[in-house]
Amino acid sequence: MISDLPVGLSARHLAHEDHPRVLGVLDTWWGGLKGAAGATERALLLPRLYFQHFATSSFVVEHDDGGIAAFLVGFLSQSEPDTAYVHFVGVDPSLHGQGVGRALYQAFFGLSQSHGRRYVHCITSPENAASQAFHTRLGFTASAVKPDYDGPGIDRVTFTIDLTANPVTTCRQ
Ligand SMILES: CC(C)(COP(=O)(O)OP(=O)(O)OC[C@H]1O[C@@H](n2cnc3c(N)ncnc32)[C@H](O)[C@@H]1OP(=O)(O)O)[C@@H](O)C(=O)NCCC(=O)NCCS
Repeated sequence: MISDLPVGLSARHLAHEDHPRVLGVLDTWWGGLKGAAGATERALLLPRLYFQHFATSSFVVEHDDGGIAAFLVGFLSQSEPDTAYVHFVGVDPSLHGQGVGRALYQAFFGLSQSHGRRYVHCITSPENAASQAFHTRLGFTASAVKPDYDGPGIDRVTFTIDLTANPVTTCRQ
């Protein structure tokens, strides 16, 4: 499904059973970003419905022993026919910098293009400098910080990439 992963890792689409496993790694993988409030925010961002109704546009990466190594939760926009959206992505910190995040995005870009989607959008919190650097490196254009974007006091940076201007190098589902 995604061939350009480090040795010992393989990818598949998300499944119902992955819900508790993914929730279980969020705080460690996000390094406790924003403390208890951040932990609550992250858990609420991934209710089970994503694992039920967005499974075929989302991916999980596992080690050979079945341990979770990375995930990407995304979907094709229902209201914007040229757009797809990455909702949440995480890579085990011990694997950072090895191209796993890029491989997940490339897979999602390929899936999006195969469904006629030109743009991919996503957001991150202004505090998440690593996420901003990563998305910029992948070719996304970042907005300025948008105050109260997701509600009072919940600021966000938004990202957009035009897939026709950023050729997908791997195109697999
Ligand atoms: C952001 C994240 C997904 C990146 O995953 P990754 O597998 O480490 O990223 P990759 O190795 O595929 O890196 C892809 C490119 O981004 C760059 N990059 C990744 N993290 C970076 C960082 N912290 N600072 C600067 N550049 C970075 C890499 O150098 C690489 O560039 P290159 O291919 O031109 O050399 C990962 O750090 C993560 O899971 N962070 C915690 C969760 C999170 O913040 N998720 C995003 C918000 S929902």
